[in-house]
Amino acid sequence: MKQTIRLEKLLAHTGHGTRSEIKRMMKTGTVYVNGRSVKDGGIQVNPDQDQITVNGVGVRYREFIYLMLNKPQGVISATEDSRDRTVIDLLAAEYQTFEPFPVGRLDKDTEGLLLLTNDGKLAHNLLSPRKHVPKTYFAEVEGTVTDEDKNAFAAGVTLDDGYVTMPAKLVILRSGEPAAGEVSKIELTIMEGKFHQVKRMFQSVGKKVVFLKRISMGPLLLDEYLEAGSYRELTAEELKELQQANNTSGLS
Ligand code: URA
Repeated sequence: MKQTIRLEKLLAHTGHGTRSEIKRMMKTGTVYVNGRSVKDGGIQVNPDQDQITVNGVGVRYREFIYLMLNKPQGVISATEDSRDRTVIDLLAAEYQTFEPFPVGRLDKDTEGLLLLTNDGKLAHNLLSPRKHVPKTYFAEVEGTVTDEDKNAFAAGVTLDDGYVTMPAKLVILRSGEPAAGEVSKIELTIMEGKFHQVKRMFQSVGKKVVFLKRISMGPLLLDEYLEAGSYRELTAEELKELQQANNTSGLS
């Protein structure tokens, strides 16, 4: 990387505290750049070339973060909103400082896997309609989901705006009896991401989704140990798989 970055931003991105904590820390003269004590966090440094230490410990810079969030219901997939809490509000300050954003959207009442990153290129690729990244959802649907629905989804259904969906894979986990007030439980894998797509696909066959949770996106599987509202960084393995899939168009 040839780019320079403000020293205080670099220190924030490497977990040395909030901006105000870093300002305070800098005044104590514990931050060194190329062997010289630096008290001005506003200076530009080159993470590839400059040697930066805090209390004598070398700082290893990273530019990007990748977080897996189990999105809870009631928060919106945006970076800011005047009314509602956003997925970014769920993150600790040490992560917010990277200015991550959600890769795609889940509805306010949808739960599950949401990737948050500040890596625009990766996000762009994952969202590209040409890449056909598979996304699998678990849903509870009012009434009985049938093999006819499965065939209709495999062939493509027409949504309320006339759009015909790409072939999608429906797995019926449990077919509910409406008379008994039961819901059907299904998994649906779609290769595109139209607005409210899963709900509108079921609407097209006369059915209503009452619970929706995304459980996978490309090679990423929602970590079953992540409670709704919790998040963690992707493991090195997960990130590698995501990048490989992205580079080789293996997501298509
Ligand atoms: N499809 C929907 O209907 N809603 C979502 O949040 C995601 C997919």
